[in-house]
Amino acid sequence: MTKNNVYIETYGCQMNVADSELVMGILQKKGYQLTSEADNANIILLNTCSVRDNAEQRIYGRLGNLKKYKDQNPQTVIGILGCMAERLREDLVESKKMVDLVVGPDEYRRLPELIDTAFTGEKGIGVKLSRTETYDDIIPFREDGLSAWISVMRGCDKFCTFCVVPFTRGRERSRNLESVVDEIKQLSERGFREVSLLGQNVNSYNDNGRDFADLLAAAANVDRLIRVRFTTSHPQDLSDKLLYTIAEHPNLCNYIHLPVQSGSDRILKLMNRTYTVEHYLNIIEKARKIIPGVSFSTDIISGFPTETYEDHIMTLDVMQNVQYDGAYMFKYSPREGTKAYKIDDDVPEETKAKRLNDIIDLQQSISYEINQKMIDKDEVVLVEGQSKKSDQFLAGRTDTNKVVIFPVNDEIKTGDYVKVKINRATSATLFGDLIEVVNPSGEKISLTA
Ligand code: SAH
Ligand code: SF4
Ligand code: F3S
Repeated sequence: MTKNNVYIETYGCQMNVADSELVMGILQKKGYQLTSEADNANIILLNTCSVRDNAEQRIYGRLGNLKKYKDQNPQTVIGILGCMAERLREDLVESKKMVDLVVGPDEYRRLPELIDTAFTGEKGIGVKLSRTETYDDIIPFREDGLSAWISVMRGCDKFCTFCVVPFTRGRERSRNLESVVDEIKQLSERGFREVSLLGQNVNSYNDNGRDFADLLAAAANVDRLIRVRFTTSHPQDLSDKLLYTIAEHPNLCNYIHLPVQSGSDRILKLMNRTYTVEHYLNIIEKARKIIPGVSFSTDIISGFPTETYEDHIMTLDVMQNVQYDGAYMFKYSPREGTKAYKIDDDVPEETKAKRLNDIIDLQQSISYEINQKMIDKDEVVLVEGQSKKSDQFLAGRTDTNKVVIFPVNDEIKTGDYVKVKINRATSATLFGDLIEVVNPSGEKISLTA
């Protein structure tokens, strides 16, 4: 084993996926080797999430498994990065003696130095948040592939009352527009076909007056063969300009992740979401007018403090009303330090679970119905490779992010755009037959079908 072999495991949201690539970029530049096996590593890093209690419990469980590496080789450095590092700070090394390194999201530049500290037997701790750090100049380490995540902003200023993110990620700040565009150019040269621009609330992107719509337009113009996705949009800040920009560029995906969280105005207010259900539904209606065929996904929390059965029914009503393509659905988990933590967590666990089940069941039936309506339609699909279940089938995605499975064809390779006629659908997957390879060079070819 060479001295500096790094293994990193990533939990939580896509921001963490992007951050792990930054971390690998930083370490590789300093001469560290990256390894995909913990067995080969003498530095083991967990990039962690604090958003719900079960996310943290998972990390504690994983630390338990990692103890064997420490037992085999006491020189092994075990590090916690990301949101849990920021939330728990020094307490983490106090409570978990085997942790040598605790580094929050704004201190990754110092990782090489902090790893050196850990090798001397001291604890390496870096948990300051920054108002300016965007890692603009750092080239993330990415394997070759089709799809890349790009953080375009960091932090969050919204302070939804249930959420730890403003505490773990600090204040909102945007990357420079040109640096994002340059990154997409590099990915284009490497044959990437999809980029997802990430921020906790991308609609408040602001680079010296250039807003998120400006960034999206610039991103779309880099390479017409690259599909551009983005997440997350906060309903308060979604502008008409953004909707028109999406409508105008065929390679900006017609898909908006617009978390509603609850269908009750009273609960939304307690959550400090700063919009009403009416405002939310107006945005959906407007978006559907401006971007024909646009689809939506959402996040929903069940059992926020004081949530009544009536509030819960209102959430189901919003889901019926909007007809989301997909949803991420969670039980409320109290987080220390947040405002909601001070409100009694009075919805019994059983009720939270029951309501969550109602929400999941409803979403599944909505997804199924939406997918059934796609039968006999032609969809433009970006081919991602063989289907997981069979080498006789290929898998790809529509611009609304639905998985499409169709029979293999020698003419077609990963990264091609093809037109597929849908002939069957479940709530999660579409199946179809290939119609033609869409020639990507002619302007006549629309990437959105
Ligand atoms: N910035 C994004 C999401 C960040 S966290 C946004 O504003 O939508 C992702 C999702 O986790 C949130 O949308 C919310 O639905 C959920 N979440 C956050 N804190 C939570 C908590 N304490 N309990 C349960 N779910 C939570
Ligand atoms: Fe959390 Fe709200 Fe910020 Fe999203 S917008 S990260 S839910 S505080
Ligand atoms: Fe989790 Fe932090 Fe993302 S708390 S959801 S990893 S921003």
